[in-house]
This record gives sequence, C-alpha cells and structure tokens, in this order.
Amino acid sequence: MAVTITMGIQKGGCGKSTTTGILAYLISQKGYKVLAIDMDSQGNLTELLSEQPSNDFMGKSVLEAMQQNNVEEFIVPINGNLDLLPANNFLATFPRWIYTGKTYNGSTIPFKGNPSLILDQTLDSVRDKYDFIVIDTPPSLSEQTTNSLCASEYVVVLFECSNWCYSAIPNFMDSVNGAQEFGNRGTEVLGILRTMNDVRRSDAKAFNELIAEDYPEQIFETIITRKAPTGRLSLYGFNSNNELKSALAQYENFYEELMSRVQSK
Ligand SMILES: Nc1ncnc2c1ncn2[C@@H]1O[C@H](COP(=O)(O)OP(=O)(O)O)[C@@H](O)[C@H]1O
Ligand SMILES: [Mg+2]
Repeated sequence: MAVTITMGIQKGGCGKSTTTGILAYLISQKGYKVLAIDMDSQGNLTELLSEQPSNDFMGKSVLEAMQQNNVEEFIVPINGNLDLLPANNFLATFPRWIYTGKTYNGSTIPFKGNPSLILDQTLDSVRDKYDFIVIDTPPSLSEQTTNSLCASEYVVVLFECSNWCYSAIPNFMDSVNGAQEFGNRGTEVLGILRTMNDVRRSDAKAFNELIAEDYPEQIFETIITRKAPTGRLSLYGFNSNNELKSALAQYENFYEELMSRVQSK
C-alpha cells in the first residue's frame, strides 16, 4: 500500500514543485515504485518530469482522472519506477466542476459526495501499485490543496525563509489539522523543510532559527540552499543533464531524513 505525501504551502516560489520532482525522482532511483501527481494548474511538476509542455496533456490529466474516477488511463510513464499524473491550466476549473457539475469542455458530469475527498477516492484503485505517491500543490488553500491533504498520510511543509512565508505557516497547519479531522487518512505533518536559502542573508538565517524554535519537533535538519544547478532543473530536467548530480546533492540528506521519519511512524 502506497505511502502518500503532499508537499505544500500556500505561497508561491517556495520550492514545492522542485522538491516534489526531486523527491519523486530520488525515491524512484532507490528502487521504489512512485506515482507523482501534479495538483497545480501551472503544470510545473508535469513539465519538470515529462520534459513536455503541460498543454500536451489537455484532456489527459489528473482533472479527467478525478472526473472519470479512473487513474490508470491518465498515467504517464516517466521511467521504469516513476509514473506521473499530469496537470495543465484546466485544473483551475476543478472547483467549478465540483459545485456545478459543468466541465471545461461544456459536458456535465454531476458530482455528489465530499468535495475534499475526490482525489483520495480516485487514488484508491492504484494505491496498491505504488510504494509512494507524492503530490505537488498550488500556492493557495484551494480545493486542489484540500483534496491533496485529505488524500495523504503525510505532509511536508515548505518553508522559504521569509516573512510572508512565515505568516503563511499557521493557516497551512490549520488546513492539515482540518484534513486530519475530516479526511480518512490521519493526515499529519511529516516535517518542515527550509528551502531556497540564501546563505549570505542575515534575515534568512533569523527565519531559519525562528521556525526551528516554533516547530522543534517538525523541522528537518537539512536546509536547502539557492543553487543554480537546482534552479536549472526546470531547464535541463533529469535526463541528459550534465549538472544533475550537483542539482540533487543537497536533497540526499533530506531524502534520508524523510525516509527515516516515514519508517519510524
Ligand atoms: N534550491 C534552489 N535553488 C535555486 N533555484 C531554485 C531552487 N529551488 C527552486 N528553484 C527555482 O525557484 C523557482 C520557484 O521554485 P518552485 O519549485 O517552482 O516553487 P513553488 O512550486 O513553491 O512555486 C523556480 O524557478 C525554480 O526553478
Ligand atoms: Mg509549484
């Protein structure tokens, strides 16, 4: 049975998509079977892993998987161990479909049920095919995010060391607690990962320490720094990338910490 982990914070530019892609890739390289799900209409995870424009997946995405309650038809194989459930801009119509039954192409697929548990129920048919499912979320506390949280046992909170990210954390934690209360998977925070660190900035250092003091149990020891090869993954991807080793190196410790937390649960 897959362990499902959502990467989240309702602020943009905190490294969610990059971290989800790298984590999915690293887990698959260690020999586990992984499904990566893009729940952000920006389609960044989709483009990172598939190395194709997200528009290529119009009509063939996680949105249709949820509307038709059929995952397998929309799986995109990435490598032997890694599959992707892609997204594109039409995922932004997900709330309209939930509340009106109208899809973006004009058809009607009435939806009845709990609006937050659609992804959770959709994934039931494939959970025994994977060791891990990792989910990327949008920079908002939208239906896409609540569905991701309710479909997951664990959540990794991305903390980019800035004041606006700091102020986003309490509401995000409330959303995780809501998913624990109203969902069926006992959703809990696996840890808080400090990302995009600029080691030269004293304010970043201060926020690193502040968040660790606020959440001493949850904070991961690993701190992800701003590093050009990691940023350029969006350009070069995971195949034929001469600087891949350098792009991923700082994530190896995070991977080890994350795995040991999952295994000790
Ligand atoms: N460690 C890093 N060092 C340098 N650039 C990074 C790093 N992590 C992410 N980036 C870049 O920063 C931007 C925001 O990252 P992204 O993963 O898209 O964040 P989010 O999904 O939270 O919006 C992207 O352009 C990405 O390529
Ligand atoms: Mg993103």
